[in-house]
Amino acid sequence: MAESSIKNASKGGSDDPAVMAVATRVLDMIAEGSLVGLGSGRASHAFIRALGARVKQGFRVHGVPTSVASQKLALELGIPLIELTENVELDLTIDGADEVAPNLDMIKGWGGALVRERIVASASKRQVILIGPEKLVKTLGERGRIPVETIPLAQGYVTRKLKALGLTPTVRLADGKVFITDNGNLTLDCASSHPIANGHAARELEAKILEIAGVVDTGLFLGTAERILIGHDDGSVAELFPAK
Ligand code: A5P
Repeated sequence: MAESSIKNASKGGSDDPAVMAVATRVLDMIAEGSLVGLGSGRASHAFIRALGARVKQGFRVHGVPTSVASQKLALELGIPLIELTENVELDLTIDGADEVAPNLDMIKGWGGALVRERIVASASKRQVILIGPEKLVKTLGERGRIPVETIPLAQGYVTRKLKALGLTPTVRLADGKVFITDNGNLTLDCASSHPIANGHAARELEAKILEIAGVVDTGLFLGTAERILIGHDDGSVAELFPAK
């Protein structure tokens, strides 16, 4: 079985000026007393840090983390957290993305947290995405692979079915070892033999992948973003909204 090691292809760290610009701007969208989904990855962590600074000044908010890493960071910063085992609707989730197509369909999950990112975003009224311009693509799959979180015992079967869909799956590694998600699963990173031409093709592919027994979820986030904030190195921020 082939193996892959996805490096998260954001330009810089969470102190990158473009990342800082979106992380600061998005704070304006958080109302006092909100319940906020805390995404994963560098842009989300920059946002969590900015939110933590506000909480230190007395701002009241509760967070729901999308990964163990985001949970740890939020707790270190003193952001009060609640569990999704409680029946709650979140006001909004702030997260990053790996690719954003012109219709705002996305690939997420290069950071390995796609399942919890999906759950938290689904439990939220709005999902707001923070990226740099390098994440904007013409067609999904342009920058990299589609992650598919898979139950370990189904690896062989899921691999065969993904290949039958024209995908080339590789098991994700981290530091030379098989990467295990926060949910105890594998990630199969799937290269596509042909570009995912448009939103219709992306939805068809998503449906076919989700039909495979043993697949937990995919990194295709289609039609989920309420808006995209794009940070630039000069500190400016552009906003993209889905077409009406
Ligand atoms: C985590 O699983 C991902 O979906 C991240 O949201 C995504 O990889 C973006 O991360 P960066 O902000 O680090 O690029």
